[in-house]
This record gives sequence, C-alpha cells and structure tokens, in this order.
Amino acid sequence: MNLAIIGAGYVGLVTGACLADVGNRVVCVERNTERLRVLRGGGIPFFEPGLAEMAAHNAQAGRLAFTDDLPSALSDAEIVFIAVGTPADEDGSADLGHVLEASAALGRAIPRDMVVVVKSTVPVGTCHRVQALIEETLRERGAPWRVSVASNPEFLKEGSAVDDFQRPDRIVIGTEDARALRLMAALYAPYNRNRDRLIHTDVRSAEFTKYASNVMLATRISLMNELARIAEKVGADIEAVRHGAGADPRIGHHFLYAGVGYGGSCFPKDIQALARLAADHGESTPLLDSVQRVNEEQKRVMAAKIRRHLGPSLHGRCVALWGLAFKPNTDDIREAPSLALVRELLADGATVRAYDPVAADNARRAIDHPGLVIVPNALAACEGADVLTVVTEWREFKSPDFRGLAGRLKSRAIFDGRNLYDPEYVESCGLAYYGIGRGARPARPGREDADTPAVTTGYW
Ligand code: UDX
Repeated sequence: MNLAIIGAGYVGLVTGACLADVGNRVVCVERNTERLRVLRGGGIPFFEPGLAEMAAHNAQAGRLAFTDDLPSALSDAEIVFIAVGTPADEDGSADLGHVLEASAALGRAIPRDMVVVVKSTVPVGTCHRVQALIEETLRERGAPWRVSVASNPEFLKEGSAVDDFQRPDRIVIGTEDARALRLMAALYAPYNRNRDRLIHTDVRSAEFTKYASNVMLATRISLMNELARIAEKVGADIEAVRHGAGADPRIGHHFLYAGVGYGGSCFPKDIQALARLAADHGESTPLLDSVQRVNEEQKRVMAAKIRRHLGPSLHGRCVALWGLAFKPNTDDIREAPSLALVRELLADGATVRAYDPVAADNARRAIDHPGLVIVPNALAACEGADVLTVVTEWREFKSPDFRGLAGRLKSRAIFDGRNLYDPEYVESCGLAYYGIGRGARPARPGREDADTPAVTTGYW
C-alpha cells in the first residue's frame, strides 16, 4: 500500500519504518528542518535499538522517504496517519494543537477519498473533531472527497519499539466504517498472522483504550511503590512479595517492579490528561490523583535515603549516579526520576558524577549546573564519590565488581533504585545496601558464602 505519515517522531518513525519493512511504500512528513535533515541523511534523531538500520535499509530500497511537503506525500497515499505529539498543556490536558493543524492541512491537501488514522494519543472525541475539521476544510475548497477518520492507538514501548510494533499483543482499530476497517485489517495482516491480534471497536472506545492501558500500568507501579514503603517499615522484602503476589495469574509478574518512580513521555502525561478529561466531564479521579502523587513522592525516596546515610547536610559530598534515561535502551529523559534526584542532590549542596550509556547529552541539556559532572563510563562516576546510586537498570550495571566499588566509594554504600542486587551479597562485599522496599534479610541456606555471585532480580 501507499502510505503517508504526518510526524516522524517516535511513533511516526517506528510506524513508518516497520510498515515499509513489510513492503509498503511510506512517505513521512516532517516539518522540523533539523529532524528532516537527519532523516534524509540516513540517521534517526533519537536512540532506539534497531530502528536506524531498519529506516536506512528501507530508504535505500525506495520504500521509505522523508519530506516536508504534505501534498506530494499524499499524491499516491491510500491511508494517512497522524502521528504528531500531544504534549501536556499547562492545565494537564493534552495539547491538540499539532493534531488539529495536521487535520486542517489534510483538509487543504487531500486529493481523493482517504482513510485518516489517528495514532497520536488523544482524548476521547478527538477523532470526531478531526473528521469534522477535515470535512469542513474540504467543503470550503469544494472538494468532493469522502474521508473516514479511524483511531489506531500505539502501544509500543521505548527501547523495544520495533519489536513491539512487529509483534503486537493487540492491534486496536476504532472505526465505524466498514471500508476503513477492511483497509486497516489488510495493512496490519502481516502482524496478525494467527488472526488473533486485531481488536475492532468504535472510535471513542479505541481512543479510551490507550489511556486506560497506560493508567492501569502506572497504577500498578504506584501501588507497588506504596507497598514497598510499607514493606520497608514492617521488615518485609518487596522482591519476595512480588514473587509471591505475582504468582497469582490474576496479578501476574509483569510490570510489578518497585523502583524510583515511573517517568517517560507517556504515563505522566496520559494520567494527567485523563484526569483533566474526566474533570471536564464533571468526574473526579481520586485514584488517578493518588497514583500521580505517589509517583512524585517516590522520585524523592532515594534522596531521603542518601541524606539519612550521609547527612543531614550533603554539602561537600559527592554522589555517583548510574543511569539518567527514564528506562534502559533509550536516550529519553522526559520526566526521568534521575532528573528529580539530581536536582534534589544539587539543591542539598552535593555534587553528582553521572554516567549513562546514551542519555548523557540530553541530561546535560536538561540540567545545566556546575555540580553535575557527566562522565564517560560507570567507574569514572565513582571516582572521589561517597556513595553510588543506580537509577536506570542498564544491562551493564547488573553485575558490578562490588569489592572494587567498596574500595572506591568513600562512604561505602550503594543505593539501588531498581532492586537489581542481592542485598546480602552486596553487604558481604563491604558495602551498605539500600534498596526500595527491602526490609528483610531472610536466612537462605548456602547464602553465607560471600563468593556467591550477585543475583539480579530485574525483569529486563
Ligand atoms: C509506556 C507503555 O508501556 C506503552 O505501552 C505506551 O505505548 C507508552 O508508555 P514507555 O513509557 O516506553 O511505555 O515505558 P515502560 O516500559 O512502560 O516504562 C514506563 C516507566 O515505568 C519507566 O520509568 C519504568 O522504569 C517504570 N516501570 C516500569 C517501573 O517502575 N516498574 C515496572 O514494573 C515497570
């Protein structure tokens, strides 16, 4: 099929590259000139495993192209995707400026009957607004074309976006138009080989499904973080609790990890936007409000632990920090817990020596402060540092040389914001261990041996 995609950001570029990779001809429309220059030069403007290679391969094969000219992108297109950003407005609602601009531009440029697919995360009712705006603009120019706007939310995760797109758990298509559904089902057929992934709903339910999914996941995380705080107080280990509770298939083991709070471009923004949408309709959202509050508090938990260990004042202290990205395998630092932690440590008078495999440049741009020193590797972060805190669970942080660290860190302590390490083993190497919700040290047969390798407990 011939496809056009408006917006070559995260969602648009992954969608474009993956759909080109199965044989479609895709033109991505990007109006940011710097981003367009990078894309045309064969690069991609952010870090995402496997995406640059896939984009370059399909561009060379003539299946993927980039332009800033919407009419030319639409000249052969059967389906056009809107995949522009919907950042949070000042009041927390989703800012639909880019979506509505793209819709008006489509109304001015559409050259035939067309299916318009909204992939951006948008409040319920937006697709109908998009439909009305395009129809109005078409009417103004006297164009007879029939446009059908469908909702097709994207559920991909940063860091595994290509794989998520290629092997989706579900493909949600919201449309009340049989022709649009047929076309979309054909487009997604390569990812629906067993015919069990496609979920057809009305437009509004599809829009809502995206918010429901994200707030449910965020709620799980805040609940685990709250349980972790209680576990610490009552002397239980949240990691053991996770194993036990997750064994119930109604709960499951996925997405049950206590940590330093969730970040990223979706959860914080989408919860706010849903709460705002509810308020606009006269509904209160006590649960969503608590999920957000717990998360904000959770981002401060590590600083409090560090202060208790080193403090009360952190003046003249140096904290080594591993991981700046909001999660591994991405350079994205939007709403990253690391930023809140660094800001708090700096405000308390500490210096921070931070390392991240790919997010360093973005972090430097976000926090321009002489007390934040970004270093090129994990060991360099520990030079002259009092303690180490691990904020992002990059693979290279999973099995450090704890004895070596004990020799380097002046105050001999690790603050494990992702519960990556075995507390007993870390302590046996001469370091104090502080995790999240790890109040218990259960006696385990055979674990007295200090040479037992560290057990990593992450899901990554
Ligand atoms: C999320 C959704 O998972 C995805 O479906 C949607 O399309 C976009 O938003 P993403 O933000 O890329 O994806 O990352 P995700 O892996 O969901 O992690 C979000 C945050 O939650 C991260 O900060 C992560 O560290 C945190 N998290 C995740 C936890 O603290 N505990 C967990 O158990 C899982």
